[in-house]
Amino acid sequence: MRRRRAPSSQALACYYPDVPSRGKFITFEGLDGSGKSTQLNKLARSLRARGVPVTVTREPGGTTTGEKIREVLLHSATSGLSSLTELALMFASRAQHIQEIILPALAEGRVVLCDRFTDSTEAYQGGGRKLGSKIVLEMHKILCGNLQPDLTILLDNELGFSLDRARRRNQKSSRSGKPNEKDENRFEQESRAFFGRVRHGYMTIAQRESQRVQTVNARGTPNQTHAAIMELVKKKLKI
Ligand code: TYD
Repeated sequence: MRRRRAPSSQALACYYPDVPSRGKFITFEGLDGSGKSTQLNKLARSLRARGVPVTVTREPGGTTTGEKIREVLLHSATSGLSSLTELALMFASRAQHIQEIILPALAEGRVVLCDRFTDSTEAYQGGGRKLGSKIVLEMHKILCGNLQPDLTILLDNELGFSLDRARRRNQKSSRSGKPNEKDENRFEQESRAFFGRVRHGYMTIAQRESQRVQTVNARGTPNQTHAAIMELVKKKLKI
């Protein structure tokens, strides 16, 4: 029997043809509890008030299938997940998200604001789980057509401050018992050393891709951070 050859990454890239009339793709990155979601929502409100069409989404998740994968990845009852399985699930969620949400929105000329993208995988699975950057960047080429954000906002805060905030928030929501407040504690249970590697991973990405990744000091008030982000976004969107 003749063995079929696996398709090359170039062949797979044809699943992601160039998107006509591309909108802008802006991602938010940072440690758990760095204030990404607050800032992303503030930015969405400001842009909408200026009449800019905005799609807000997140990873892992963003689609019906992706949200199911998110639950497996983040629920503290998920145990024994290998680092490679975790990596594959992050990309499974992302591949679906790109096809179903991100590319169609960009094709309509919308601004897509995404809470985490492949930089998270490089920082958490590549750095935190010690899988390295190479495998993450290769998978990104193959499964995501190497789609790059136009701008990435990396929120930088003290490690201890971010983690305490994330842990408090997630313990509160998992205790509340409300159906829309889920247990998403699996990563918060990791050690400080793990998050130290994640932070180092982010710093390395920011140095390597200094055009795309803009580090924003998130130690001030939410309004101060928002003002800094608005400046960057106005430049990028020319508004
Ligand atoms: P998120 O909901 O953004 O958490 P938080 O609001 O606490 O910042 O992200 C969920 C978790 O998933 C977070 O701990 C980081 C982790 N994650 C990865 O490890 N790899 C990835 O590729 C992504 C997208 C998230």
